[in-house]
Amino acid sequence: MPKAIKRIDPSSTPVVALEQRGFAKTLVKWQRAHGRHDLPWQKNLHPYPVWLSEVMLQQTQVSTVRAYFTKFMDRFPTVQDLAQAHEDEVMSLWSGLGYYSRGRNLHACAKRVVQDFNGAFPSELKDLIGLPGIGPSTGAAIASICFKKKEAIMDGNVARVLSRYLGYGGDLSQSAHQRMLHAFAKALLPRGGSDMPVYTQGIMDLGATVCTPKRVLCERCPVRSTCVAFAQHKVLELPFKSKKIKRTQKSIYWLIAMNDQAQVLGAKRGLEGIWAGMHAFPEFESETTLRQALPRDVVVRPLSVIKHELTHQSLSIHGFACLFKEQGARLRAQKKAQKPWDSALNLAGFEWMDMAHWARVGRPKPVADFLDQLDWLA
Ligand code: ADE
Repeated sequence: MPKAIKRIDPSSTPVVALEQRGFAKTLVKWQRAHGRHDLPWQKNLHPYPVWLSEVMLQQTQVSTVRAYFTKFMDRFPTVQDLAQAHEDEVMSLWSGLGYYSRGRNLHACAKRVVQDFNGAFPSELKDLIGLPGIGPSTGAAIASICFKKKEAIMDGNVARVLSRYLGYGGDLSQSAHQRMLHAFAKALLPRGGSDMPVYTQGIMDLGATVCTPKRVLCERCPVRSTCVAFAQHKVLELPFKSKKIKRTQKSIYWLIAMNDQAQVLGAKRGLEGIWAGMHAFPEFESETTLRQALPRDVVVRPLSVIKHELTHQSLSIHGFACLFKEQGARLRAQKKAQKPWDSALNLAGFEWMDMAHWARVGRPKPVADFLDQLDWLA
């Protein structure tokens, strides 16, 4: 068990001892020969693409980020283009990447960089972390990759590499141990700044391709000869986290109402919650309240349940489709009434949106998935 791991006592581990292990030099050499060099954000190390990719990579895998990164760079080649865009367009492009506050912060950050920094990202970590959506690790990635600053990133991959390399068995659910590991990470950085971009990419590459959570490829690791966990056969026991995330289960019920013009009822959600500012369907706490909101003669058909995993919650989304056949005719007949369905459905604030409209706004993945299921309804 992790408790048996001999922890490195910081007081007995002077910085020079860490440096003498040659970790940084070996890693830099390895990255040049065996690291990843074909990622789309590695074409140039300008802060704009690096920032964009780092924000996207915060909670999303490289394989998913590739296409989104290219789409954003094509549509917004500069930070000014992004700052000037309409929020709905930014969120539309972000649709499907998840954790949508990142998309909103991305837009807010672009505006701040243009307004407060004349369009040039600041180079110091302290200024970077004052910007929306840039935390200490993303800030360190930008500062080290673009500006050769000696700043240490610390994401899940890096924490795993370093706890194993150092044999650090401290409980990483506790901030004191996170701080300690971060102090070690700083002590392990290359001496000069010139290797920082390669080093930072190297430690991420090692975590992603060799020092992986389960099927670890120690035989390919450039630093295994000085890795404490490898020597002690404790690789799979580290890193140690006592508190595992427990997800609560929740069900929500969505009404997916379509009219005879193939429009689907939707609205932009408020500023709170996971899908803040995204467009979605009317939501209910239960199937009963959903059915109660509808006129009696409307036939409702359950769609397949969509499971959506969030960091702290496991959501089951129950979609119920219904067709308002005569809605278009009713609409045309009622010239004065702006939203005649409001009284019938009691769904103030929602509007009939055609597919082109849905495509122009931010849609969470489950919304896009339900829209895809609607073909059979028409
Ligand atoms: N994860 C976070 N930043 C990354 C990067 N620059 N390359 C690959 N994976 C990453």
